[in-house]
Amino acid sequence: MRDQVYPHRDLLGIEGLSPPEIIHLLNLSDSYVELNRSSDKTSKALETLTIVNLFFENSTRTRTSFELAALRLGANVINMQIGDSSISKGETLIDTAVTLNAMHPDVLVVRHPQSGAVKLLSEKVNCSVINGGDVSHEHPTQALLDALTIRRRKNKIEGLKVAICGDVAHSRVARSNFYLLLTLGAEVRVIAPKTLIPSFLSNLGVEIYTDMREGLKDCDIVMMLRVQKERMVGNFFPSTKEYFRFFGLDRKKLSLAKPDALIMHPGPMNRGVEIDSDVADDFERSVIREQVELGVAVRMAVLKLLSDNLLEEKNKKVK
Ligand code: CP
Repeated sequence: MRDQVYPHRDLLGIEGLSPPEIIHLLNLSDSYVELNRSSDKTSKALETLTIVNLFFENSTRTRTSFELAALRLGANVINMQIGDSSISKGETLIDTAVTLNAMHPDVLVVRHPQSGAVKLLSEKVNCSVINGGDVSHEHPTQALLDALTIRRRKNKIEGLKVAICGDVAHSRVARSNFYLLLTLGAEVRVIAPKTLIPSFLSNLGVEIYTDMREGLKDCDIVMMLRVQKERMVGNFFPSTKEYFRFFGLDRKKLSLAKPDALIMHPGPMNRGVEIDSDVADDFERSVIREQVELGVAVRMAVLKLLSDNLLEEKNKKVK
């Protein structure tokens, strides 16, 4: 029997994963990077698998990279067009999930604008479910690709000083990164205006700063977050100009971090709001494009691992 380092059917979040589980996912992801860089990127590892992408919110990186990951491993992929589906006739999320489940897909990748919706859906189906981002809750594959990017550049995660800056209150990326980076022993700082610091942070073990000049000092990683205007009800800061002045990453603020500090952003970026183009496009320091590249490898690893677990479960039932 296979030694199951990651003994789960789903990937719903990073919270609760153990260090060996996360490291196993990162190691497997690493093994796909070279395949993606080679001229023949294809493998037949998942040729019997059917994956359905079910995205209730817009996405460029996550949806495309899950599709590419599945295709490169030989799987069949269906991208459900939510606007053309029976959801527009009033069908509920659960009825949609149960309907899709009846067609025997192996994996559902779901992005949803309600916290907990992906977990609820996973309880109604018997295929694997991957959380592609649920509102401000979790985005596990983003945290994994961020960690893979950091580990490949810095050769470690433990002991690094990582500053996560900006709209933490609305960010699933930040939340999944807190869980992952703290679990692997990084020193995590949050730098944000008071209005964008959520209360759950006080018990998490992160250091909180409201001044970039303090928080960025000696950091190894500067991770900027998108200002999520579409999720803001009310005014969280006076103007985008003011926000950029105090919390936008520019060359001057970056100079406070270590000279070899990496610049990260999950994308999409609001240039001139949370990040200046000058630093976003600095090919020496910015690893934003590398994050996107490694996202495909991470999603290949997650699909492979979950499908191996499914197969093992089916084999057990046959016996
Ligand atoms: N980082 C991220 O989730 O990007 P998309 O919304 O484009 O998928």
